[in-house]
Amino acid sequence: MGTLDIDFVRAQFPAFAEPSLQGQAFFENAGGSYTCKPVLDRLTRFYTQRKVQPYAPYEASRLAGEEMDEARMRMAALLGVDTDELSFGPSTTQNTYVLAQAFRQWMKPGEAIVVTNQDHEANSGPWRRLAEDGIEIREWQIDPETGALNPADLENLLDDKVRLVCFPHCSNVVAEINPVTEITAIAHAAGAFVCVDGVSYAPHGFPNVGELGPDIYLFSAYKTYGPHQGCMVIRRALGDLLPNQAHFFNGDVLYKRFTPAGPDHAQVAASAGMADYVDLLCDHHGGPASGAGERGQFVHDLMRAHEIALLQPVLDAVKDRNAVRLIGPAEAERRAPTVALALNRNAEEVAAELAQHGIMAGGGDFYAVRPLTAMGVDLGQGVLRVSFTHYTSRDEIDQLLQAFDRVL
Ligand SMILES: Cc1ncc(COP(=O)(O)O)c(C=O)c1O
Repeated sequence: MGTLDIDFVRAQFPAFAEPSLQGQAFFENAGGSYTCKPVLDRLTRFYTQRKVQPYAPYEASRLAGEEMDEARMRMAALLGVDTDELSFGPSTTQNTYVLAQAFRQWMKPGEAIVVTNQDHEANSGPWRRLAEDGIEIREWQIDPETGALNPADLENLLDDKVRLVCFPHCSNVVAEINPVTEITAIAHAAGAFVCVDGVSYAPHGFPNVGELGPDIYLFSAYKTYGPHQGCMVIRRALGDLLPNQAHFFNGDVLYKRFTPAGPDHAQVAASAGMADYVDLLCDHHGGPASGAGERGQFVHDLMRAHEIALLQPVLDAVKDRNAVRLIGPAEAERRAPTVALALNRNAEEVAAELAQHGIMAGGGDFYAVRPLTAMGVDLGQGVLRVSFTHYTSRDEIDQLLQAFDRVL
């Protein structure tokens, strides 16, 4: 495998050429990424040429509908699932909320769901609310020092009452990559379905969800170089079982069953731009000529290798620093480049100081109230979070490390 051509990558993101952003290094990517050009081009084209009700028999409408179908088909292929197993909703939080309503109707009082205290609230709170209907909620807890989830602890929580196990591919503050396939196998062996929040992982390379194995996989396209959409994979066996949450006459169509709102046509269509971007990277770097899954895997591996090389110096620079607590592992291969730091002062104030050195980052709880509380982090101070992706350059990492030297 070659190395990522960072100049080529950055040329696909208009933000890097934007005059008002020059000198500013973006380190809040876990909050939302820059948008790639193919997505922006498709959005503009949709709004200028196809902004009509789709799927009617006139040309602009036919093109609009075709582009929406193309987005679902190509993204599903990239994720290694059937086209109708992928649906788009307004956000991951709303997608989870709708799913939780379906489980609320399907499950019986006394049955159980396993949630973690490592998750972002989006994959935690909606499930915990099912306790109001007599569903037992069991919490798979992190190690308070390391923030890690231990699969052996999950085994102790499982029995024949458990219908669903929810956990993150990686947390948005701990960032350790959880062994999804291993955990899924444990849950499946106990007869439970699996719901994985992939929001913090997918920006670092789209996974092959079909091979990973969960029944539900969620991520947010506005963090994966795309438009503001929640993407939700629901494997057919589970989707057919859960009660329909859409209009009664749409219930037979899997990709409509759990997205009751009318879709955002332009943003669904523009989501095909994420697949264009993967294709551009694959072809430019001499990846496999065919097979969406293989091409996606090739690009995933390129992105990860670049990120790991840039991440290790950041971890090394903070891990032994006085008055800094690095949240999550200190080895780059084990984690996403989302680095949360607990400091002995207010993290937002530190972020404001970093901004004076051209670093765009934030401080707070990042809706990860449960994991930070479990790890004993003072929520009043919050954590500073610096997060990057494959499009981040070595120069930007140097800029960050110099700013750390001045501010931390
Ligand atoms: C790990 C994780 N899960 C879920 C969400 C919620 O996603 P959305 O904003 O699409 O509802 C976020 C958002 O920051 C997140 O970081």
